[in-house]
Amino acid sequence: MTTIDLTGKKILLTGASDGIGKGVADFLMRMGAQVAIHYNTNRASAEALAVKYNNGSKPFQSNLANEEDVYKLFEEVEEYFGTIDTVILNAGIFLKHSTNKNTSDWLSVWKKTLDVNLNSVGLLTKLGIDHFKKQGQGRFIYIGSRAVFRGETEEYLAYAASKGGVTSLARSVARSFGKENIKSFVVSPGFTRTQMAEQFIEVYGEERVLNEIALNELTTPQDLAPLIGLMCSGLMDHATGATIDVNAGSHIR
Ligand SMILES: NC(=O)c1ccc[n+]([C@@H]2O[C@H](COP(=O)([O-])OP(=O)(O)OC[C@H]3O[C@@H](n4cnc5c(N)ncnc54)[C@H](OP(=O)(O)O)[C@@H]3O)[C@@H](O)[C@H]2O)c1
Repeated sequence: MTTIDLTGKKILLTGASDGIGKGVADFLMRMGAQVAIHYNTNRASAEALAVKYNNGSKPFQSNLANEEDVYKLFEEVEEYFGTIDTVILNAGIFLKHSTNKNTSDWLSVWKKTLDVNLNSVGLLTKLGIDHFKKQGQGRFIYIGSRAVFRGETEEYLAYAASKGGVTSLARSVARSFGKENIKSFVVSPGFTRTQMAEQFIEVYGEERVLNEIALNELTTPQDLAPLIGLMCSGLMDHATGATIDVNAGSHIR
């Protein structure tokens, strides 16, 4: 069994109630970390994770589309944990808005996507930097996307742009705050089997997705979790600023 010792680590993980976040939260707790299990709508899932490990991990609700909610989330977690070792920016939405739509509908999806996928991430980064400076250390792990490097289809321009922003932010944080003992990493997944991906598979079929990758099976959240655990552990701090692809060989840079 994979083992990375995360005993005593306190981690804020956004979007921990489903998909990649849920798989990662489960892994981090199994390795001994206490996790602030952030969710938006799926309270039952976040609570089930907390109950499963019963180790001081706790659910926190926040709609990251609302600025006040973002502040509230960080404040509540800071108060509960005292010290936060790592902030994992995982929550995200993947909304279609073809350029064939009328412009105002297209723009409303653009704004919604940027609010959740980038603006909340920017604000949590600022709050995290303030917190990490006070305590003299900290780590950010940003969940980007293969879309940043390969480009997306025309239906997902906002999504691709938001993840480009996240990736660039993460790299700049690594360069700007390394001397203050703040590290920053990007994990860049390809297609990963979650409900976000299922929506795409429903429309385009699993064969199309399997044909794109080098391996035989679609990536699952469990395939991403050990890398994220290693990043949280401090064992790979000298890779700060790095973007690590986990895309089953579908896009090799
Ligand atoms: N799946 C893929 O193929 C893939 C590929 C590349 C990158 N990614 C990235 O990986 C991350 C996780 O994706 P996933 O596939 O695991 O997605 P998912 O299964 O749809 O889960 C999304 C998570 O984000 C939360 N969330 C959604 N909207 C929110 C909002 N307005 N406020 C707060 N939380 C919100 C959800 O909370 P509730 O369920 O509680 O509402 C849920 O926990 C995303 O950043 C995504 O862009 C995914």
